[in-house]
Amino acid sequence: MQTRKATAIAHPNIALIKYWGNRNDALRLPANSSLSMNLAALATTTTVEFRSDLDADSVMIDDAEATASARERVIAHLDRVRVLASIQKKAKVISRNNFPAGTGLASSASAFAALTVAACAAAGLQLSTDELSRLARRASGSACRSVPGGYVLWDACDNDDCSFGRTIAPADHWDLRDVIAIVESAHKATGSTEGHAIAGTSPFQVARVASTPERLERCRAAILAHDFLALADVIEQDALAMHAVMMTSVPSLLYWRPATLAVMQAVHAWRADGLAVAFTIDAGPNVHCICPAESSTQVEHLVRAIPGVERALTSGVGPGSRLIP
Ligand code: PMV
Repeated sequence: MQTRKATAIAHPNIALIKYWGNRNDALRLPANSSLSMNLAALATTTTVEFRSDLDADSVMIDDAEATASARERVIAHLDRVRVLASIQKKAKVISRNNFPAGTGLASSASAFAALTVAACAAAGLQLSTDELSRLARRASGSACRSVPGGYVLWDACDNDDCSFGRTIAPADHWDLRDVIAIVESAHKATGSTEGHAIAGTSPFQVARVASTPERLERCRAAILAHDFLALADVIEQDALAMHAVMMTSVPSLLYWRPATLAVMQAVHAWRADGLAVAFTIDAGPNVHCICPAESSTQVEHLVRAIPGVERALTSGVGPGSRLIP
């Protein structure tokens, strides 16, 4: 029996300029460019083994059989790798997240970045970081930003060949932290794949997409200059623009809970008092409080005291996806 096995680790990322909506759903070509930072404290580790003795792919996530929909998505991605490598063998996939169970932080970005890197290595493919990022994008858009390290820009680009994530600054360029205020641990009602598909039903999506290049440029400049107040303004504007689209799409996606808003308002009050902190929110109710390392202990302490915050998790900026022994 011939087997080929590889293990990879990947970190999720938090978008500072958001990706929402595709210009091509099948290829996951995004409506706009986005910019993120990888989160070092959170990780997915995935082992892929192509085996000649398997009749079907098997997928275990966090020590349980994957649900039918997760399994389908993993198999579709394994199929992309099999086509590239010209192999037919089925695979055994074992994936584990280090995120504490029930935090609502399960991330398709780290999952598909780790799967891409491990599956390509196990299939004997030698792809560059750019090629791995491009391939990861096909499974989950934001996964392409978890392949390179540090602060990553995903250029929307017009076609499959040029749409992937690139590092604009390494992880140690600026020691920012993400203090994640977990206000609800349940799985989100509407996942991002469905969300991207209806983004265009909001009358605000056209305006959001048209105004993103200016915010992206401001965000990139703020990161390169270590200018926290400029970063704070632009990431909050961008997150609110995305949530305005979500709320006004058909059907409406209203991810916020009362505690989401309580944290957002507290962040504004703390910043007005001179504490360096800003919020961003993904397709869910949890609030990511972005701050320089120096403010993070105080931010964490303050966040935990807000009624409705179940727990807080802090992460620094992380490296890209990589193979591990
Ligand atoms: O990659 P997806 O399909 O899970 O979409 C990610 C969407 C957001 O997290 C809301 C924004 C982003 O850019 O990460």
